[in-house]
Amino acid sequence: MKKAYIKATGLYTPPNQVTNEELVSAFNAYVDLFNAQNAEQIEKGEIAALGHSSVEFVEKASGIKSRYVVAKDGLLDPNIMTPRMKERPNEEISILAEIGKNAVLDCLKAAGRDAKDVDCIICAASNMQRAYPAIAIEIQKEIGMRDGTFGFDMNVACSSATFGIKIAAEMVKSGAVKSALVVNPEICSGHLNFKDRDSHFIFGDVATAILIEDEGEFEILDTVAVTEFSNNIRNNFGFLNRFSPEGIGAPDKLFVQEGRKVFKEVVPMVGALINERLAAQNIPAENVRRLWLHQANANMNRLISSRVLGHEASPDESPTILDTYANTSSAGSIISFNKHNKDLESGDIGVICSFGAGYSAGCVTLQKV
Ligand SMILES: CC(C)(COP(=O)(O)OP(=O)(O)OC[C@H]1O[C@@H](n2cnc3c(N)ncnc32)[C@H](O)[C@@H]1OP(=O)(O)O)[C@@H](O)C(=O)NCCC(=O)NCCS
Repeated sequence: MKKAYIKATGLYTPPNQVTNEELVSAFNAYVDLFNAQNAEQIEKGEIAALGHSSVEFVEKASGIKSRYVVAKDGLLDPNIMTPRMKERPNEEISILAEIGKNAVLDCLKAAGRDAKDVDCIICAASNMQRAYPAIAIEIQKEIGMRDGTFGFDMNVACSSATFGIKIAAEMVKSGAVKSALVVNPEICSGHLNFKDRDSHFIFGDVATAILIEDEGEFEILDTVAVTEFSNNIRNNFGFLNRFSPEGIGAPDKLFVQEGRKVFKEVVPMVGALINERLAAQNIPAENVRRLWLHQANANMNRLISSRVLGHEASPDESPTILDTYANTSSAGSIISFNKHNKDLESGDIGVICSFGAGYSAGCVTLQKV
């Protein structure tokens, strides 16, 4: 068996920033409009009046202060409350492939590699723009990979990137490929219900990429992927929706969650998983230099890192990018790694860990070469 390494990572941040203030102000304008338009039914008790959101709640409950989105148009219009973007012809690159390509090019540049050096590309993300052709194959063409190379899409929601790293690392270790790209284009604004007070603030858009080869800067010591079925995070959007037209456009065709239950169930699951993998490798907690955790909720990360390190993690031990990017699904832990790995010294150990819908959780233990 060969060894597998993270050679480099790449990041693409969309140009449009949306602050909590902007988002909450649009949400509250929508609520006022809804309540005014439905005043009679609300008065009769036939429907419930909607309540305002608050900037203070969002920051305190989640740690999120702002997010980036691929399209700001429509998003802040109380009459629309959905991002709007012109449909592209088939001859033009699709938006998901475009942001993925941008992250891949950043990654190849950081690695000093050309697309011709890459044998395989996995597009690992929470939402694919279409059923087919695979987004990975579109990116493969767009960046100009060699003939005879291949790409495929995979989705394990927020754990897509770590599961993708596991597959890529195993292909490299077996000798099946020498160089594999994992790309995570996450346009989470596409599945977010901006009219839902409980979740309208949660997500942002971004793309990350990881190049895995048989040599590089960070050796992949261990990978683990676990899943355990839960209905607490769901999105029922899918190709069979047209069989039941009465459900089309209903809130369950976007992201929905039981946030409290997710919080309570996932924290112990993930804390135990990281501890178990460290124990299996005889790595004591004090030897863990950094945790690059999934970025869903700052309070969740505080609890998980305490369970692993045995004390409250400093920002240096468990960096946060959630404040500026919000939850970017599978890309969150990779953004954290991308922005916070240059200061590690030879021999330092760190863990990338993601968790989310499924439930699913993935851990990748790394050692700086
Ligand atoms: C979503 C999340 C931030 C919500 O935080 P929370 O503390 O659980 O908040 P709750 O939904 O229990 O609501 C607490 C109170 O705030 C209110 N509230 C909810 N949304 C609000 C908003 N936008 N503005 C103001 N108040 C709000 C609720 O009505 C509730 O009021 P009550 O106590 O009078 O009933 C949190 O549950 C979470 O992050 N969970 C995990 C999410 C996650 O990781 N998901 C994975 C997705 S991939």
